[in-house]
Amino acid sequence: MSKMNKRKDWWKKSVVYQIYPKSFNDSNGDGIGDIQGIIEKLPYIKKLGVDVIWLNPIYKSPYVDNGYDISDYKMIHEDLGTMRDFEELLSEAHKLGLKIILDLVVNHTSSEHPWFKKSRSSRKDPYHKYYIWKDPVDGHEPNNWGSSFGGSAWEYVEDVGQYYLHLFAKQQPDLNWENPKVREEVYNIMRFWLDKGIDGFRMDVINLISKRPDYPDGPVIQNKEYGSYYAGAANGPRVHEFLQEMNREVLSHYDVMTVGEAPHTSADEAALYTDERRKELDMVFHFDHMHLDYGKYGKFSDRRFKLADLKTVMTRWQKVMEVHHGWNSLYWSNHDQARPVSRFGNDTDYRVQSAKMLGTLLHFMQGTPYIFEGEELGMTNVAFDNIADYNDIETHNIYHEFKTVHHLDEDYIMKTIHLKSRDNARTPMQWSDKENAGFSAGTPWLKVNPNYHEINAASELSDPDSVFYYYQKLIRLRHNYEIVTTGSYQIVDEKNPDIYAYTRSDEKQKLLVVCSFSESPITYKIPESLRVLPRELLLSNDAASETEDSTTLRLAPYGARVYLCKTGA
Ligand code: NOJ
Repeated sequence: MSKMNKRKDWWKKSVVYQIYPKSFNDSNGDGIGDIQGIIEKLPYIKKLGVDVIWLNPIYKSPYVDNGYDISDYKMIHEDLGTMRDFEELLSEAHKLGLKIILDLVVNHTSSEHPWFKKSRSSRKDPYHKYYIWKDPVDGHEPNNWGSSFGGSAWEYVEDVGQYYLHLFAKQQPDLNWENPKVREEVYNIMRFWLDKGIDGFRMDVINLISKRPDYPDGPVIQNKEYGSYYAGAANGPRVHEFLQEMNREVLSHYDVMTVGEAPHTSADEAALYTDERRKELDMVFHFDHMHLDYGKYGKFSDRRFKLADLKTVMTRWQKVMEVHHGWNSLYWSNHDQARPVSRFGNDTDYRVQSAKMLGTLLHFMQGTPYIFEGEELGMTNVAFDNIADYNDIETHNIYHEFKTVHHLDEDYIMKTIHLKSRDNARTPMQWSDKENAGFSAGTPWLKVNPNYHEINAASELSDPDSVFYYYQKLIRLRHNYEIVTTGSYQIVDEKNPDIYAYTRSDEKQKLLVVCSFSESPITYKIPESLRVLPRELLLSNDAASETEDSTTLRLAPYGARVYLCKTGA
């Protein structure tokens, strides 16, 4: 391996397609999506036009948290296939010019990982120091931290007389990154996959790996029973040092991309992770726009976002990344979030129109866009009547907490679950109107959304006006117009209550993006300074019509327009 830094920035021009393997396509009829199923659908992904595929965890796991609890980092989960299947996928994808990035889950392992089994066997075992163990304080947990999935973040183990930390489920013990051996293990795992030829990593909750050594109590927020761990664990004292070490030791030797998941990270903090001169990560996933509809109890609420807040948040991230040499990741959804058309658009009367508008708004911003499987079809949230039909651990835990701690009524609880459950994203991909949406010949591990008769890939592929073909255009425009990657962002008409408009500019031209969040037709006056510029319509989601003096746009409900304006010689 040469010592030279091999990194290039192809990812700035790329669009990423996220696959949740369990829910994508089942090739063997066991009801669970698998790697051969992904291989079958590579032509579909290629047709959409993306550059990179991100796979959620595919490793051996007891599936307490659907693969985010890994018991062997170098083995493929048997439900998904074999290492040979994975190698075939990688090589077939590469033949089509598609790159593949994998999920790196190293804040924690599964409690079934051999390291943890040894760690919990005795304080003297060398693996004990692989995890975070603390003595009881006055016979209790070492601090008040609650886990992300409810309950305490500490679990007591009789055999060693200590508590171990788990920021997520108790089957997901946190690794001790202070131990250099742990870091070396992680780097070895990364090299193992990179040497197979993968093209990068999405790093799970990577900003949580360095905990404050004093483990301070956290504030009790959102009516929770326990304290928040964020002040003590997010963006901790050594996180940048660890990531710079990881970059030096591993990443700098490969031409790959990285995106770190970073909950509770401000734009200024994110600039530290992604400033290219600091050599840490290429970009992070932030959560600021995902928090806009949080309520009294946090995520599970029936509040709807406000457009003014969305503008503020997105604009802040666009500006801060630009000024600080950072880079944005752009996303509306992923396997942890509700479907965007249900959450930020209208999934009944204006489903197609609002899905296209949301795609437009996001894809012309600065950053690398991520499309979560089914988003390109305008797939919607699901509303199962019975909690037993849900699979997700977070959903079950919140149901229990809302019942037993807050005594909320069933209807309200189910309403918030319908709006926010992670299973909204995880229902099987809707390929056709055949049985089980064409996802599986067996019984799917999670029920399909009953609206698959109406919303499915087969029908969209035969309709030139579909969301699918609109997304294809969005991607093509990004590839064809350099300004989408490089242009400087400026919000326009910031106070407008219905419209989100912005420009992207370079010395010679400007893109003008105008998106309506109104459910009524709207007349929009283009601001004076932009009106005078000659403009060419690049894209719209309705039959674009302008008044004669071309100063005014008439936008249909959830209308969207993109213009290219010439500003220079
Ligand atoms: C974030 C992942 O996206 C989520 O699915 C998972 O439950 C947690 N991290 C824990 O790994």
